[in-house]
Amino acid sequence: MGDHIDKTRNERTDFTKGNLDQVKHPDPFLFFSEWYRDAHEKNCADPHAFVLGTVSADGQPSSRIVYMRELLEEGIVLYTNYLSRKGEQTDLNPKVSALFYWDCLERQVRMEGMIEKVDPALSDDYFASRPRMSQIGAWASEQSKEIPDRATLDERVTYFEEKFPGVVPRPPHWGGYLIRPHYFEFWQGRLGRLHDRFCYEKIADGWRIYRISP
Ligand SMILES: Cc1cc2nc3c(=O)[nH]c(=O)nc-3n(C[C@H](O)[C@H](O)[C@H](O)COP(=O)(O)O)c2cc1C
Repeated sequence: MGDHIDKTRNERTDFTKGNLDQVKHPDPFLFFSEWYRDAHEKNCADPHAFVLGTVSADGQPSSRIVYMRELLEEGIVLYTNYLSRKGEQTDLNPKVSALFYWDCLERQVRMEGMIEKVDPALSDDYFASRPRMSQIGAWASEQSKEIPDRATLDERVTYFEEKFPGVVPRPPHWGGYLIRPHYFEFWQGRLGRLHDRFCYEKIADGWRIYRISP
């Protein structure tokens, strides 16, 4: 092990904002939507941001932040470039994780499940609702691919702005993914690191719900 290059500044904070003595929802999606609503109401920063974890063909995990854009009965939807690193990885291995952290409520929700592309009509609708600049960006950016310099990207932006002076069609390589979780964990921070954690595991006729140790 080498020397420290800096000291970390994580003062010890206690978690005191809530508790989860028992869970009332038999359905984890309803539970999640309640906590998501709470995060909005409490003005948590970026409540729809989550860490998407994917795994490469040789087992290397990678993670990045994305936005949840739809919350459906069967899962959560994000939009991205299908040819990006995450897109290539999930083509080969559709097992993913999603992690939400709402600092202002001292809560995290972990999900694990399978990812699939959404119906193109849903991607069309969402793409049409985006600002023009983001639509042009979806054409201009070959997400995750190496480029020589910033000018290359700017030139591509100019090219597509001229190519699409009016309505910008959705690029075929850009669209939504649905994550269908089969496992959830709801975590509420508690004093003395004695946090509350409840898991929902999909079984044949519903969800097995159980508490785990902090
Ligand atoms: C707050 C925040 C929100 C983001 N939302 C998205 C998103 O919804 N879709 C997306 O493709 N990238 C989003 N990004 C960028 C991703 O973190 C990432 O850089 C990009 O998707 C490329 O990832 P990949 O190379 O692993 O495919 C977001 C980044 C941040 C910091």
